Amino acid sequence: MCGIFAYLNYHVPRTRREILEILLKGLQRLEYRGYDSAGVGIDAGNGKDWESNAKSIQLIKQRGKVKALDEEIHKQQDIDLDVEFDVHLGIAHTRWATHGVPSPVNSHPHRSDKTNEFIVIHNGIITNYKDLRKFLESKGYEFESETDTETIAKLVKYMYDNRESDDINFATLVERVTQQLEGAFALVFKSVHYPGEAVGTRRGSPLLMGVRSDHKLSTDHIPVLYRSFSLCSQPVKTRKAAVPYPGLTRTPACSLWTRKLWSTTLPLMQGKQIPVFFPSFYSVQTFFAVIEHTNRVIFLEDDDVAAVMEGRLSIHRIKRRAGDYPARAIQTLQMELQQIMKGNYSSFMQKEIFEQPESVVNTMRGRINFDNNTVILGGLKDHIKEIQRCRRLILIACGTSYHAGVATRQVLEELTELPVMVELASDFLDRNTPVFRDDVCFFISQSGETADSLMALRYCKERGALTVGITNTVGSSISRETDCGVHINAGPEIGVASTKAYTSQFVALIMFALLMCDDRISMQPRRREIIQGLRVLPDLIKEVLSLDDEIQKLATELYQQKSVLIMGRGYHYATCLEGALKIKEITYMHSEGILAGELKHGPLALVDKLMPVIMIIMRDHTYTKCQNALQQVVARQGRPIVICDKDDYETIKNSSRNIKVPRCVDCLQGVLSVIPLQLLSFHLAVLRGYDVDCPRNLAKSVTVE
Ligand code: UD1
Ligand code: BG6
Repeated sequence: MCGIFAYLNYHVPRTRREILEILLKGLQRLEYRGYDSAGVGIDAGNGKDWESNAKSIQLIKQRGKVKALDEEIHKQQDIDLDVEFDVHLGIAHTRWATHGVPSPVNSHPHRSDKTNEFIVIHNGIITNYKDLRKFLESKGYEFESETDTETIAKLVKYMYDNRESDDINFATLVERVTQQLEGAFALVFKSVHYPGEAVGTRRGSPLLMGVRSDHKLSTDHIPVLYRSFSLCSQPVKTRKAAVPYPGLTRTPACSLWTRKLWSTTLPLMQGKQIPVFFPSFYSVQTFFAVIEHTNRVIFLEDDDVAAVMEGRLSIHRIKRRAGDYPARAIQTLQMELQQIMKGNYSSFMQKEIFEQPESVVNTMRGRINFDNNTVILGGLKDHIKEIQRCRRLILIACGTSYHAGVATRQVLEELTELPVMVELASDFLDRNTPVFRDDVCFFISQSGETADSLMALRYCKERGALTVGITNTVGSSISRETDCGVHINAGPEIGVASTKAYTSQFVALIMFALLMCDDRISMQPRRREIIQGLRVLPDLIKEVLSLDDEIQKLATELYQQKSVLIMGRGYHYATCLEGALKIKEITYMHSEGILAGELKHGPLALVDKLMPVIMIIMRDHTYTKCQNALQQVVARQGRPIVICDKDDYETIKNSSRNIKVPRCVDCLQGVLSVIPLQLLSFHLAVLRGYDVDCPRNLAKSVTVE
C-alpha cells in the first residue's frame, strides 16, 4: 500500500537540492493514495568526488504527508543542499501503515544497521517476516522497527556479510534475498558498498522503470539474463554446497554475477545519461510521476531483478519460466499531461464527476453502432462463443467496482439468461467458493491492481475458469492476467472516491450483456431499446449534472448530520450502496445503503423525524413497492429526500423534498440516479472541510489483502 520512487542520475550532474526536489515531487505524485509517513535515502558525503560521497547514506524520515518530510529535510543542520553529484541514486517512499504505527522509525527506507550499509524501500507485505526476523536476531542483527520490511534490509546485509567472494554483485545479493521472501513485494535497494548502483525487483506488487537517455537507446528490448542458462556451468549439487548461509529455509542460488562477468556479458544501453525511476503501481499516478521525466518505460515481471550499474541496465532471473519472453520491451507511454490535470475544478473527484458525459462516450466509442444496433467488443471477440456456452457468470470485485456488478446483475441475467453471481473478492476467497471450468469469472477493477481481486483472479484461473477483466488501466495486473477483457477507457481517475470509472464499468457491462444476446431474435426489441438508451445517455448525464447548485444547497442542510440512510430497490439498490460508500469515504459521516424491501425487517427502527433519509424511486417494475416504502417512512415522521424522475408527478406530490432527474431505459437509470449522490458526497466533504481527493485511511489502489 505504499508508493516507491527512486531516481538515479548517471553522469548528469545534479545538486542535492535538485535530487531531493525530484524525489519529493515523485512522492507527491503518488500521494493521492493516502499516506501516513514518508522518507528518503540519499548519499551523505559533502565532498567533490561522488564516489566518496556515496560511501555513506543519510536517511530522513517523517510522519505525515510529503510536505512534513520536506519541512524535516529543511530542518536538518548538517545537510548541504548545494553539493553536486555526477552520479547519484536517491530512493524515496510514502507509507500506509500495515505493520507498526506511523512513525519515523517505522517509515522507509529501512536500514541494515546503524551505519546504513544497505537501505531498502518496499511496497507489499512479507508474510514470513517473523521467521526471518527470528533467524536474523539469532545471528545478532538488532531490529529497531515493528515492520516486515526491516527484515529485508537486514537480510541483504546478512547475505553480504556471509558472501563467498568479494566480487559478489549487488544483483546477486538481492536475488538471494528474494529467494527467502514470501508474500508480495516491489523493492528498490541502495548500498554504500555499491555506489551509484540501483537494484529493483518485484513479486506480486507492480514495479515500473522509466528510462531516459539523451542519446538514442541502442535497443527497444532488454534481453533477460537467465543465471541457470548463461553462467552456471557447474553441477547444481556443487553449487549448492558452496553456499555459506546455514539456517535459512531455502538455499539461495549460488552462482555470482561478478563485476567482471557483468561488464563482459551484459547488454549495454549505449549513452551516458540514463536516469532511472522505479515507482510502484501501474496507475495513472505512477505514469504521471514518471512521465515528467520520460515516456519510455519497462514493466518488470514477477521475480525479475533489474539492476543499474555503471549506467548500464540489465534484467535477470534465476531461471526461465515456461512461455517467458526472454526480453523486456521498452514501451512508450501515450499520455498527455493535461489529461490528468485538475483544470478549473477544485478537486480531481469533482472534475471526474463532471467528465462523465465524455467518459461514457469513450467507453462506447468504436464499440456501438447506433444506426444498426450492433455492439463490438474487440477484447472479447475471440472468446464470446465460449462465454455464451458457459454455465454461470461470476462478477468479482471490491468497493465501487463491486457495486457496478450489483447494478448490472439484473440486466445481465435478463439478456444472458445465465445465473449471475456478484461477489466481493475478499469474501469469495474466504469462502473457498467452488469454481468450475465452465464458469466465466469477471474481474471488475478500475486500477486493475486491487490485491483481493487479483488473488481471486488467480484462484479462478487455477480452477480452469475463463477469466475476463473489466479494467480502466491498460497494462495493469488484472488486464494482463485475465484471458480477455474490456478496457473501459474512462481516462485517468485520480480521486480516491471512484466516480466516472463506476459509470463506465456500468456501461461496459451493459455492452457485454448486449453482445451476449446479439443473435437472439426474441431479444432484439429490448436490445434496440437499450442501445438507443445508451445513445442519449451522455446528454441525460449532462442534465443531471446541471442539478449541481440544487444539490449543493441540499448539502448545506445535511452536512452537520451524523448519519444518512439511502433506500431503494431493484436497479437502484446498487445506487444506494454506492451513494452510501461515497458519503462514508470522503465525508466520514455514517451512511448506509438499504434495500427498501428489507426496510420492515429492521432498518425501519432507525427512522424518525430526525434521521436524514434519501429514497430512490423510479418508474420501473418496483415502483409500487417503492411507493409503499415511502409511505412507511413518512408514517414514522420521516421526511425523505426522494430522487425520482422529473415526470413522476405522483412521487413529486408525495414527497416534501425531491431531486428530479431525466427518465431513461430502466436498466440504465442507475447511471443517472447515482450522480446526484456523487455530487452530494462531494459537497458534504467540502462543507465539512475535508480533503476530497485524499480521504483519511483510504488508498486509490489497495494492493494488500
Ligand atoms: C483495442 C485497442 C484500442 C484500439 C482498438 C482498435 C488497446 C489497449 N486497445 O481496443 O487502442 O483503438 O483496439 O480496434 O490496445 N484485455 C484483457 N483484460 C482486461 C482488459 C483487456 O485481457 O481486463 C485484453 C482484451 O482481451 C484485448 C486487449 O486487452 O485483447 C485490448 O482490450 P480493449 O482495449 O478492450 O480492446 P479494444 O476495444 O479492441
Ligand atoms: C479502494 C478504493 O478501496 O479500492 C475504492 O478506495 C475502490 O474507491 C476499490 O472502489 C476497488 O478498486 P478497483 O481499482 O479494484 O476498482
